Amino acid sequence: MERDEQVTGATVPGGTELPFTASELAEIESEALAAIEGALSLAALEEGERGALGKRSRFSGLYQQLGKLAPETRKEAGQRLHEVRRSIETLAAARRQELEAGERAARMRADRLDLTEVFAGPTAGHLHLVTQVREQLEDVFVGMGYEIAEGLEVETDWYNFQALNVPIDHPARSSVDTFYLEAGASDENFLLRTHTSPVQIHLLERNKLPIYAVAPGRVYRRDTPDATHLPVFHQIEGLVVDRGVTFGDLAGTIDTFVHAIFGENVSTRLRPAYFPFTEPSAEFEISCQICDGAGCRTCSMTGWIELGGSGMVHPAVLEATGIDSEEWSGFAFGFGIDRLAIMRYGIADLRSFIENDVRFLAQF
Ligand code: PHE
Repeated sequence: MERDEQVTGATVPGGTELPFTASELAEIESEALAAIEGALSLAALEEGERGALGKRSRFSGLYQQLGKLAPETRKEAGQRLHEVRRSIETLAAARRQELEAGERAARMRADRLDLTEVFAGPTAGHLHLVTQVREQLEDVFVGMGYEIAEGLEVETDWYNFQALNVPIDHPARSSVDTFYLEAGASDENFLLRTHTSPVQIHLLERNKLPIYAVAPGRVYRRDTPDATHLPVFHQIEGLVVDRGVTFGDLAGTIDTFVHAIFGENVSTRLRPAYFPFTEPSAEFEISCQICDGAGCRTCSMTGWIELGGSGMVHPAVLEATGIDSEEWSGFAFGFGIDRLAIMRYGIADLRSFIENDVRFLAQF
């Protein structure tokens, strides 16, 4: 530096001519502005700026000559160069803002999540088939003037068995395997209800007659899952208590709702059966939906498929809840919603309902 000064600076008398012509300067400026204007990325802009004003630029070359000039001339040359630098820097700053905004927008476009995709079209979820069938059943019975009753999934031995005319040592108990619950210090026997029939007792206990009610809900049995059994499944209970209710009313009611669910091309029949809480009792069956009654593997060649149990409410059940069985009579029925659904929709295996395979569920 010192030596430079000696060679080019202090020893040489200051020049009085500008080290550039006006058009030369204008050319430097317009070249730089064009490079900056044309930069398509921040990196290109930086390179353009460096080319215009950096150490090895023509502009910088002129700048370095200022030292050799006489003070007056140096002042003028300095001002001109300064204006050019300002105009280049101003344009570069503006261009930088544009490019930054553009890159930000591009980044946001790339990062955007289209949330509408989640809600629209075939990816939207729907109610489980069992729930759909339960709602169909509720609609049919509401249409016949029934109320929908809500039961409890945890019951006592009294409601699940004894009040339904199934004493502790009754042989009918061994036909269902019950989940018993340990419930603290209570000496009452808590259990998961094995059928929806305890809702009958709750309805009768309300002592509001007549009763026309259905109660759908979950029930539990100690069964190993297979094509026709699940340890947790769904039933719907029906209870009617009124004056002069007959077995014919029961048969007509079953016929009506079966046709509402399965359409007109189905036949129903009642077969004698035994339940402790109804007398007489009947199992109700529909003509097999797979073979149309001709006989196939699904219906064991009988042409009929059992849907549920039913019967006239046993006088002992009415009396257990303080209802005069001379004045009032009624019928009750109960059947599996899951089983009804597999028959209605031709599903081979009950376990499909609990496997949560979307390919299965999405079909309904
Ligand atoms: N609760 C019986 C069952 O689960 C069905 C039934 C209900 C039978 C009402 C008669 C009357 O098998």
